[in-house]
Amino acid sequence: MPLLPILRFPDPRLKIVAAPVKKIDDTIRCLARDMAETMYEAPGIGLAATQVDVHLRVIVIDASETRDQLLVLINPELVESAGVQVGEEGCLSVPGIYDKVERAGHVVVRYLDTDGKAQTVAADGLLAVCLQHEIDHLEGRVFVEHLSPLKQTRIKAKMLKQSRITA
Ligand code: NI
Repeated sequence: MPLLPILRFPDPRLKIVAAPVKKIDDTIRCLARDMAETMYEAPGIGLAATQVDVHLRVIVIDASETRDQLLVLINPELVESAGVQVGEEGCLSVPGIYDKVERAGHVVVRYLDTDGKAQTVAADGLLAVCLQHEIDHLEGRVFVEHLSPLKQTRIKAKMLKQSRITA
């Protein structure tokens, strides 16, 4: 299975709002497998289809320490959120940048699995952060957009400089 190229901030394609998946077929299952492989290889704990330039509502997450608890969420929907937590976040689309972001402490997310079955996950801690971070991507939002305008400008400049060096 191929590893997928990951878009880098501030690529404008990261701002595209992803469309719901209408039919869960082999194309979607194959996308999810490739995304999972790309996430594990990177390595990262979550990846949204938006980041691999596929604008469908699919995310993969594995926030476990053992790296064996893959979650594939299709058409995820945040149905409950409560409390507050502040944690340091990073993103495969913004390599080398980590900063504190305020998120809900507890979330409940409804989604479809790769068999098209409705599922619910309730999470707190890192998994809750990860769910909110990846759902943000589907809405065209990167975590740095939660930071101050000054920080965003600095990060953009740094990313653009890096891409000129590696291009
Ligand atoms: Ni991300």
